[in-house]
Amino acid sequence: MSKSRWVCLAGLALLLSTAAVYWQEADPAWQVWPTNHNAQPGATSVPVHVQALVPTQTGKAELCVVCHVGIEDISPSHSAQAIGCAVCHGGEPLALDADIAHATLRGGRNPSDPSVAALSCGQAGCHGGYANEEQNHVDRVAKSLMATYAGGIALVRFTFGAQSSLTAQYGVSAQKDLGQPLPVGALTSLEQLPASDALHLVDQRLQANCLSSGCHLSSPPWPQPYYYRSTGCAACHVYYGNDGLYRGSDPTVPRDQPGHGQAHRLTTAIPFCQCNHCHNRGNYSLKQMAFLPREDLPPVAPTPTTLVAAEVHRWRECYQPIGDVTKCEIELDCIDCHTSAETMGDGHIYGNKHDLLDVQCRTCHGTLTAPPSVATVQDPDGLALRQARLNGRTDFLSLGDKVLLTGRGGPLWSVKQTAATEFVQVGKVTGKTYSVPLVLGSECLQDGRTQKSEYCHQCHVADRG
Ligand code: HEC
Ligand code: HEC
Ligand code: HEC
Ligand code: HEC
Ligand code: HEC
Ligand code: HEC
Ligand code: HEC
Repeated sequence: MSKSRWVCLAGLALLLSTAAVYWQEADPAWQVWPTNHNAQPGATSVPVHVQALVPTQTGKAELCVVCHVGIEDISPSHSAQAIGCAVCHGGEPLALDADIAHATLRGGRNPSDPSVAALSCGQAGCHGGYANEEQNHVDRVAKSLMATYAGGIALVRFTFGAQSSLTAQYGVSAQKDLGQPLPVGALTSLEQLPASDALHLVDQRLQANCLSSGCHLSSPPWPQPYYYRSTGCAACHVYYGNDGLYRGSDPTVPRDQPGHGQAHRLTTAIPFCQCNHCHNRGNYSLKQMAFLPREDLPPVAPTPTTLVAAEVHRWRECYQPIGDVTKCEIELDCIDCHTSAETMGDGHIYGNKHDLLDVQCRTCHGTLTAPPSVATVQDPDGLALRQARLNGRTDFLSLGDKVLLTGRGGPLWSVKQTAATEFVQVGKVTGKTYSVPLVLGSECLQDGRTQKSEYCHQCHVADRG
């Protein structure tokens, strides 16, 4: 380290210690938080004094943790020691007055809200600005169907005669695709659905009944058990228990008020119940243009301490009973089958969910005449190994392994080939391993003409007991 940097650091330390004396005497309000922290059962006691965090990657002191003492690292790739808090949250990191510290937070509680995600998550070198567009997650998610809701909007408008075809014209936000060429089914642009008084009567009802407390990534959730969730990236990557209670150790976050993530933690091991904060919670009545919630959900499980729901809970709340499903659709979590391109989008705009769906039953089970398609994992930084690493399963997948390929050629890293007709799958959330049965060589009676799940369900239906 150069001499001038030492001088600089020594100067900073002096400044901080002088400032610390001032802060401790001038406004001790912050002291309540480390004191409360120390009072939590099992907490490691911390001294009640002002100690700055100087993240290794920014070198700039932050005082957020003086009050948010004991807060969980949001993830190993985003540890507070390395990047601090302000890089995501903004705020005034040198303020010890909560109102001042928070006045400039990005997105209030949630820096991954779609309104600010480009400034926080989307910073160059984080999840934006890459030559490899697959890594520009913020751009991808903004165009994705769960963000634009283009399919839902088109369906409602078409049904009520506000547009003459099912081709999507509007989204929750306007989007443009500058990339060429476009994949099959992709659109060049969407307009923003106009505010309630500007258009067709249908749009007014759509705004009021579906979009304002709806199910897309920028809408707030219903503040009710089973529905609690966040918005933006956090809608999937920050786990909310069905009861919406915080169980981490930041003393500033109320533990008895629902509507918080279970912990300050990002995960890629997203359990089915997280997706289900939006999905499988009821039905949309097109006729009433309203959401009719399920009435058969069991009482919210008492204290789910892990992301892995009890088996019985899974069978009762995974899918609503009106639909037929196979056993593997309930046993596995949604992300065991649905890829990151299906969930975060592939960077293009779609107006119908079927244009983006990529995984079929045969992706894992093959057909009467062929086993599933595979490819060899060759790139240590490629998607398959990156996802396996983030999921903490480097023991499952190594360079040279053969993993399944989806219809569009994306890897499904959690299913690998172990012999000519043997495939092993690891649950991304549960860690359970399964041997995947093949259609090839079985007594399966499928006619080979379609892979539609309704067809398979004619013979393969789970008995939910
Ligand atoms: C003086 C103590 C104090 C300091 C310093 C402080 N906070 Fe907070 N923070 C709180 C308290 C208390 C809450 C609970 C909500 C409230 O009362 O505002 C909170 C809430 C939050 C929330 C949730 C906001 C919401 O709307 O739910 C975020 C995010 C947050 N703080 C981030 C930060 C960051 C980032 C910093 C540093 C730039 C920081 N805080 C500095 C005390 C503090
Ligand atoms: C990688 C980005 C990132 C970093 C780094 C980060 N946070 Fe957060 N934080 C988030 C996201 C995203 C949420 C929103 C969670 C949600 O909406 O449920 C959040 C939520 C919070 C909340 C609100 C929790 C609640 O449920 O009320 C507080 C408080 C908070 N962060 C404080 C901090 C502090 C203090 C630090 C530094 C030690 C920090 N964060 C570091 C991304 C980050
Ligand atoms: C914030 C609510 C929300 C969350 C959370 C959510 N979804 Fe969705 N999802 C939607 C909406 C709304 C649509 C339909 C969009 C349309 O058709 O316009 C959708 C569509 C889909 C589709 C079909 C179209 C496509 O994009 O491939 C799949 C598959 C899907 N979701 C899977 C998931 C999985 C898996 C998760 C959890 C990792 C998840 N969803 C979490 C709201 C959500
Ligand atoms: C609708 C759910 C959903 C939303 C919203 C979402 N993700 Fe993801 N994300 C996933 C799934 C599913 C995976 C794949 C996990 C796996 O298969 O291991 C993933 C994986 C990732 C990965 C790992 C690398 C990769 O490309 O797979 C990163 C990084 C990531 N997401 C960032 C983001 C960011 C940033 C946002 C917000 C702009 C976001 N995600 C929003 C579902 C979501
Ligand atoms: C065993 C694999 C598997 C699991 C687990 C799974 N899906 Fe699917 N999903 C599929 C397949 C395959 C399709 C395409 C069906 C077709 O084309 O007939 C599909 C279609 C969909 C669709 C679009 C079609 C529609 O009917 O709306 C959505 C939305 C969806 N899945 C969401 C989810 C959610 C949410 C979960 C978790 C609760 C989940 N899936 C779990 C395999 C799975
Ligand atoms: C991501 C991989 C994957 C996808 C996609 C998938 N499955 Fe499965 N399937 C499995 C695994 C793993 C098992 C074994 C589960 C076990 O051993 O408990 C299985 C078991 C089965 C079985 C034998 C057990 C039974 O239920 O009788 C059938 C039949 C089956 N799946 C049908 C389907 C159908 C139909 C679809 C499409 C809707 C589908 N699978 C999609 C992974 C998958
Ligand atoms: C007309 C009825 C029928 C239809 C339709 C059908 N199957 Fe089958 N399938 C069977 C029978 C019967 C068996 C052999 C008995 C068994 O193992 O359950 C079987 C076996 C299988 C097996 C091997 C199960 C094992 O445990 O070894 C898989 C996987 C499978 N089918 C998948 C599918 C998929 C995917 C579809 C849709 C494309 C499908 N089947 C459509 C009747 C059907």
